[in-house]
Amino acid sequence: MSGNAIADSSAVSLPRVLPHQQDALSQLHAILQNYHSNDPFDWLDLACGRGQIITHLNDTLPDPEERAKICYFGYDINNQYAGEAVALGKKFGLKGADVKIGNLNDFAALVSLEQQFSFITFTNAAHEITPVLLGTLFFELILRLKPGGTIYFYDMESLPDQELGAIPWQATEIRRLLNFIFKELGAKNKPPSPQRWQLTKCHTWSFSFKRENLDVDDATFAALVPELKTKTDTFIKQLFKEKLDRTVEQLQDLMEHRGTETTPAEHAEKLNLLYDYWSLSQIFK
Ligand SMILES: C[S@@+](CC[C@H](N)C(=O)[O-])C[C@H]1O[C@@H](n2cnc3c(N)ncnc32)[C@H](O)[C@@H]1O
Repeated sequence: MSGNAIADSSAVSLPRVLPHQQDALSQLHAILQNYHSNDPFDWLDLACGRGQIITHLNDTLPDPEERAKICYFGYDINNQYAGEAVALGKKFGLKGADVKIGNLNDFAALVSLEQQFSFITFTNAAHEITPVLLGTLFFELILRLKPGGTIYFYDMESLPDQELGAIPWQATEIRRLLNFIFKELGAKNKPPSPQRWQLTKCHTWSFSFKRENLDVDDATFAALVPELKTKTDTFIKQLFKEKLDRTVEQLQDLMEHRGTETTPAEHAEKLNLLYDYWSLSQIFK
Protein backbone atom coordinates (compact mmCIF):
# COMPACT_ATOMS: atom_id res chain seq x y z
CA MET A 1 0.00 0.00 0.00
CA SER A 2 1.30 3.46 -0.72
CA GLY A 3 0.38 6.66 1.06
CA ASN A 4 1.37 9.30 -1.43
CA ALA A 5 -0.49 12.54 -1.77
CA ILE A 6 -2.83 12.73 -4.68
CA ALA A 7 -4.45 15.72 -6.27
CA ASP A 8 -4.98 18.43 -3.70
CA SER A 9 -6.74 20.86 -5.93
CA SER A 10 -9.55 21.12 -3.39
CA ALA A 11 -7.21 22.74 -0.84
CA VAL A 12 -8.76 26.07 -1.77
CA SER A 13 -9.67 29.09 0.29
CA LEU A 14 -13.30 30.09 -0.03
CA PRO A 15 -15.01 33.31 1.05
CA ARG A 16 -17.46 31.28 3.13
CA VAL A 17 -17.34 28.91 6.06
CA LEU A 18 -17.88 25.25 5.14
CA PRO A 19 -20.04 22.86 7.20
CA HIS A 20 -17.09 20.93 8.67
CA GLN A 21 -15.34 24.14 9.60
CA GLN A 22 -18.50 25.36 11.33
CA ASP A 23 -18.87 22.05 13.17
CA ALA A 24 -15.22 21.87 14.29
CA LEU A 25 -14.99 25.55 15.20
CA SER A 26 -18.22 25.45 17.23
CA GLN A 27 -16.71 22.63 19.26
CA LEU A 28 -13.43 24.53 19.59
CA HIS A 29 -15.28 27.67 20.71
CA ALA A 30 -17.12 25.73 23.43
CA ILE A 31 -13.91 24.07 24.61
CA LEU A 32 -11.99 27.35 24.73
CA GLN A 33 -14.66 29.06 26.79
CA ASN A 34 -13.93 26.53 29.54
CA TYR A 35 -10.17 26.54 29.08
CA HIS A 36 -8.78 28.47 32.03
CA SER A 37 -5.22 27.16 32.08
CA ASN A 38 -2.28 29.50 31.50
CA ASP A 39 -0.72 26.87 29.25
CA PRO A 40 -1.13 27.49 25.51
CA PHE A 41 -3.97 25.62 23.85
CA ASP A 42 -2.21 23.45 21.26
CA TRP A 43 -4.21 22.74 18.09
CA LEU A 44 -2.92 20.30 15.48
CA ASP A 45 -4.53 20.70 12.05
CA LEU A 46 -3.48 17.57 10.17
CA ALA A 47 -3.42 17.86 6.35
CA CYS A 48 -4.11 21.53 6.94
CA GLY A 49 -3.87 22.64 3.29
CA ARG A 50 -3.55 26.40 3.31
CA GLY A 51 -5.08 26.63 6.79
CA GLN A 52 -8.60 27.14 5.44
CA ILE A 53 -10.08 26.32 8.82
CA ILE A 54 -8.55 29.44 10.38
CA THR A 55 -9.43 31.75 7.47
CA HIS A 56 -12.43 33.37 9.19
CA LEU A 57 -11.21 33.06 12.75
CA ASN A 58 -11.96 36.70 13.56
CA ASP A 59 -15.68 35.86 13.13
CA THR A 60 -15.72 32.20 14.16
CA LEU A 61 -13.73 32.80 17.35
CA PRO A 62 -14.58 36.46 17.86
CA ASP A 63 -13.01 36.88 21.29
CA PRO A 64 -9.35 37.98 20.87
CA GLU A 65 -8.54 36.57 24.33
CA GLU A 66 -9.78 33.16 23.19
CA ARG A 67 -7.70 33.32 20.01
CA ALA A 68 -4.65 34.41 21.99
CA LYS A 69 -4.70 31.08 23.85
CA ILE A 70 -4.20 29.08 20.65
CA CYS A 71 -0.94 27.68 19.30
CA TYR A 72 -1.89 26.47 15.82
CA PHE A 73 0.29 23.74 14.34
CA GLY A 74 -0.48 22.68 10.78
CA TYR A 75 0.94 19.57 9.10
CA ASP A 76 0.79 19.00 5.34
CA ILE A 77 2.82 17.50 2.52
CA ASN A 78 2.40 20.60 0.41
CA ASN A 79 4.71 23.44 1.36
CA GLN A 80 3.22 25.83 -1.18
CA TYR A 81 0.70 27.35 1.20
CA ALA A 82 2.39 26.92 4.58
CA GLY A 83 3.19 30.64 4.73
CA GLU A 84 -0.48 31.52 4.27
CA ALA A 85 -1.53 29.58 7.39
CA VAL A 86 1.25 31.15 9.45
CA ALA A 87 0.32 34.65 8.21
CA LEU A 88 -3.34 34.04 9.11
CA GLY A 89 -2.28 32.95 12.60
CA LYS A 90 -0.39 36.23 13.06
CA LYS A 91 -3.20 38.32 11.59
CA PHE A 92 -5.73 36.91 14.04
CA GLY A 93 -3.48 37.23 17.10
CA LEU A 94 -2.91 33.56 17.83
CA LYS A 95 -0.30 32.79 20.46
CA GLY A 96 1.61 30.81 17.83
CA ALA A 97 1.25 29.48 14.31
CA ASP A 98 3.53 27.03 12.56
CA VAL A 99 3.26 24.49 9.76
CA LYS A 100 5.32 21.33 9.52
CA ILE A 101 5.88 19.96 6.02
CA GLY A 102 5.67 16.20 5.89
CA ASN A 103 3.93 13.16 4.52
CA LEU A 104 1.23 11.64 6.75
CA ASN A 105 3.19 8.39 6.40
CA ASP A 106 5.97 10.00 8.40
CA PHE A 107 3.82 11.72 11.01
CA ALA A 108 4.97 9.50 13.91
CA ALA A 109 8.61 10.13 13.02
CA LEU A 110 8.26 13.88 12.46
CA VAL A 111 6.03 14.83 15.40
CA SER A 112 7.46 13.54 18.65
CA LEU A 113 5.36 12.00 21.41
CA GLU A 114 6.34 14.95 23.59
CA GLN A 115 4.30 17.21 21.32
CA GLN A 116 0.85 16.96 22.85
CA PHE A 117 -2.33 18.66 21.65
CA SER A 118 -5.65 19.71 23.15
CA PHE A 119 -7.46 19.83 19.83
CA ILE A 120 -6.77 17.96 16.59
CA THR A 121 -8.58 18.38 13.27
CA PHE A 122 -8.29 16.02 10.33
CA THR A 123 -10.76 17.22 7.71
CA ASN A 124 -11.34 16.44 4.03
CA ALA A 125 -8.23 14.33 3.77
CA ALA A 126 -8.98 10.72 4.81
CA HIS A 127 -9.79 9.89 1.16
CA GLU A 128 -6.31 11.01 0.13
CA ILE A 129 -4.42 8.35 2.06
CA THR A 130 -4.32 4.60 1.90
CA PRO A 131 -7.04 3.30 4.28
CA VAL A 132 -4.67 1.39 6.59
CA LEU A 133 -2.87 4.65 7.33
CA LEU A 134 -6.07 6.11 8.79
CA GLY A 135 -6.04 3.44 11.53
CA THR A 136 -2.35 4.03 12.29
CA LEU A 137 -2.83 7.78 12.37
CA PHE A 138 -5.77 7.48 14.74
CA PHE A 139 -3.56 5.68 17.28
CA GLU A 140 -0.67 8.11 16.80
CA LEU A 141 -3.05 11.02 17.37
CA ILE A 142 -4.50 9.51 20.55
CA LEU A 143 -0.92 9.07 21.83
CA ARG A 144 -0.41 12.82 21.33
CA LEU A 145 -3.71 13.92 22.85
CA LYS A 146 -3.56 15.87 26.11
CA PRO A 147 -5.90 14.79 28.92
CA GLY A 148 -9.35 16.13 28.06
CA GLY A 149 -8.32 16.63 24.41
CA THR A 150 -10.54 16.21 21.35
CA ILE A 151 -9.91 14.90 17.82
CA TYR A 152 -12.34 15.99 15.11
CA PHE A 153 -12.53 13.86 11.94
CA TYR A 154 -14.53 14.74 8.83
CA ASP A 155 -14.58 13.61 5.22
CA MET A 156 -16.74 13.00 2.17
CA GLU A 157 -18.32 9.63 1.32
CA SER A 158 -17.85 10.36 -2.38
CA LEU A 159 -16.04 13.16 -4.14
CA PRO A 160 -18.16 15.71 -6.02
CA ASP A 161 -15.29 15.96 -8.50
CA GLN A 162 -13.74 12.54 -8.97
CA GLU A 163 -10.03 12.16 -8.17
CA LEU A 164 -8.09 9.22 -9.55
CA GLY A 165 -6.84 7.16 -6.60
CA ALA A 166 -9.06 8.73 -3.93
CA ILE A 167 -10.46 6.20 -1.44
CA PRO A 168 -13.35 7.71 0.51
CA TRP A 169 -14.78 6.03 3.61
CA GLN A 170 -18.51 5.61 4.28
CA ALA A 171 -19.92 6.58 7.67
CA THR A 172 -20.85 2.92 8.20
CA GLU A 173 -17.24 1.85 7.60
CA ILE A 174 -15.98 4.43 10.09
CA ARG A 175 -18.53 3.13 12.59
CA ARG A 176 -17.28 -0.44 12.07
CA LEU A 177 -13.68 0.69 12.51
CA LEU A 178 -14.42 2.50 15.78
CA ASN A 179 -16.42 -0.46 17.11
CA PHE A 180 -13.55 -2.77 16.25
CA ILE A 181 -10.92 -0.60 17.97
CA PHE A 182 -12.94 -0.07 21.14
CA LYS A 183 -13.72 -3.79 21.36
CA GLU A 184 -10.08 -4.78 20.85
CA LEU A 185 -9.05 -2.35 23.59
CA GLY A 186 -11.59 -3.84 25.96
CA ALA A 187 -13.19 -0.40 26.45
CA LYS A 188 -16.43 -0.38 28.41
CA ASN A 189 -17.56 2.97 26.99
CA LYS A 190 -19.26 3.10 23.62
CA PRO A 191 -17.19 4.48 20.73
CA PRO A 192 -18.21 7.83 19.25
CA SER A 193 -21.04 7.51 16.77
CA PRO A 194 -20.18 9.00 13.35
CA GLN A 195 -22.70 11.52 12.06
CA ARG A 196 -23.72 11.58 8.39
CA TRP A 197 -24.47 14.83 6.56
CA GLN A 198 -26.33 15.31 3.30
CA LEU A 199 -24.68 18.16 1.38
CA THR A 200 -25.67 19.43 -2.06
CA LYS A 201 -23.37 17.10 -3.99
CA CYS A 202 -22.45 14.30 -1.60
CA HIS A 203 -22.81 12.80 1.85
CA THR A 204 -20.14 13.44 4.43
CA TRP A 205 -19.36 12.00 7.86
CA SER A 206 -17.80 13.29 11.02
CA PHE A 207 -17.05 12.25 14.55
CA SER A 208 -15.37 13.72 17.59
CA PHE A 209 -13.20 11.53 19.75
CA LYS A 210 -12.64 12.77 23.28
CA ARG A 211 -9.83 11.20 25.26
CA GLU A 212 -12.23 10.41 28.07
CA ASN A 213 -14.40 8.43 25.59
CA LEU A 214 -11.78 5.73 25.79
CA ASP A 215 -11.71 4.31 29.31
CA VAL A 216 -8.21 2.86 28.88
CA ASP A 217 -5.36 4.68 30.65
CA ASP A 218 -2.45 6.15 28.67
CA ALA A 219 0.16 3.56 29.71
CA THR A 220 -2.10 0.60 28.88
CA PHE A 221 -3.10 2.20 25.60
CA ALA A 222 0.53 2.88 24.58
CA ALA A 223 1.50 -0.71 25.42
CA LEU A 224 -1.35 -2.08 23.31
CA VAL A 225 -0.74 0.12 20.25
CA PRO A 226 1.76 -2.12 18.34
CA GLU A 227 -0.51 -5.18 18.49
CA LEU A 228 -3.57 -3.03 17.88
CA LYS A 229 -2.01 -1.56 14.73
CA THR A 230 -1.40 -5.02 13.29
CA LYS A 231 -4.95 -6.16 14.04
CA THR A 232 -6.46 -2.94 12.74
CA ASP A 233 -4.43 -3.17 9.50
CA THR A 234 -5.92 -6.61 8.91
CA PHE A 235 -9.41 -5.37 9.78
CA ILE A 236 -9.19 -2.39 7.40
CA LYS A 237 -7.79 -4.50 4.55
CA GLN A 238 -10.70 -6.92 4.99
CA LEU A 239 -13.18 -4.02 5.05
CA PHE A 240 -11.84 -2.65 1.77
CA LYS A 241 -11.49 -6.11 0.19
CA GLU A 242 -15.22 -6.59 0.80
CA LYS A 243 -15.78 -3.21 -0.83
CA LEU A 244 -13.65 -4.14 -3.85
CA ASP A 245 -15.57 -7.42 -4.23
CA ARG A 246 -18.90 -5.55 -4.07
CA THR A 247 -17.68 -3.04 -6.66
CA VAL A 248 -16.59 -5.83 -9.02
CA GLU A 249 -19.98 -7.54 -8.60
CA GLN A 250 -21.79 -4.29 -9.41
CA LEU A 251 -19.60 -3.70 -12.48
CA GLN A 252 -20.16 -7.26 -13.64
CA ASP A 253 -23.89 -6.72 -13.27
CA LEU A 254 -23.61 -3.57 -15.37
CA MET A 255 -21.61 -5.49 -17.99
CA GLU A 256 -24.38 -8.04 -18.26
CA HIS A 257 -26.96 -5.31 -18.72
CA ARG A 258 -24.76 -2.96 -20.74
CA GLY A 259 -26.48 -0.44 -22.90
CA THR A 260 -29.58 -0.45 -20.73
CA GLU A 261 -28.63 2.48 -18.51
CA THR A 262 -30.39 5.58 -19.67
CA THR A 263 -30.46 8.30 -17.02
CA PRO A 264 -27.55 10.66 -16.20
CA ALA A 265 -27.65 9.26 -12.63
CA GLU A 266 -27.05 5.73 -13.99
CA HIS A 267 -24.12 6.96 -16.05
CA ALA A 268 -22.72 8.80 -13.04
CA GLU A 269 -23.08 5.66 -10.91
CA LYS A 270 -21.16 3.62 -13.51
CA LEU A 271 -18.38 6.21 -13.52
CA ASN A 272 -18.24 6.19 -9.70
CA LEU A 273 -17.89 2.41 -9.72
CA LEU A 274 -15.04 2.58 -12.23
CA TYR A 275 -13.18 5.17 -10.17
CA ASP A 276 -13.77 3.06 -7.03
CA TYR A 277 -12.58 -0.06 -8.81
CA TRP A 278 -9.34 1.63 -9.83
CA SER A 279 -8.63 3.07 -6.35
CA LEU A 280 -9.54 -0.08 -4.45
CA SER A 281 -7.54 -2.34 -6.75
CA GLN A 282 -4.47 -0.16 -6.03
CA ILE A 283 -4.67 -1.22 -2.37
CA PHE A 284 -4.27 -4.89 -3.20
CA LYS A 285 -1.89 -4.82 -6.15
C1 LIG B 1 -8.67 18.59 0.36
S1 LIG B 1 -7.33 19.23 1.24
C2 LIG B 1 -8.01 19.48 2.83
C3 LIG B 1 -7.47 20.71 3.48
C4 LIG B 1 -8.13 21.07 4.81
N1 LIG B 1 -7.86 20.10 5.83
C5 LIG B 1 -9.62 21.26 4.63
O1 LIG B 1 -10.41 20.62 5.33
O2 LIG B 1 -10.01 22.08 3.80
C6 LIG B 1 -6.34 17.80 1.50
C7 LIG B 1 -4.95 18.12 2.03
O3 LIG B 1 -4.30 16.91 2.35
C8 LIG B 1 -2.93 17.04 2.01
N2 LIG B 1 -2.36 15.71 1.83
C9 LIG B 1 -2.75 14.77 0.92
N3 LIG B 1 -2.00 13.66 1.05
C10 LIG B 1 -1.11 13.90 2.05
C11 LIG B 1 -0.08 13.13 2.64
N4 LIG B 1 0.20 11.91 2.22
N5 LIG B 1 0.63 13.70 3.64
C12 LIG B 1 0.35 14.96 4.08
N6 LIG B 1 -0.64 15.73 3.56
C13 LIG B 1 -1.35 15.21 2.55
C14 LIG B 1 -2.95 17.87 0.73
O4 LIG B 1 -1.69 18.50 0.48
C15 LIG B 1 -4.08 18.85 1.01
O5 LIG B 1 -3.60 20.04 1.56
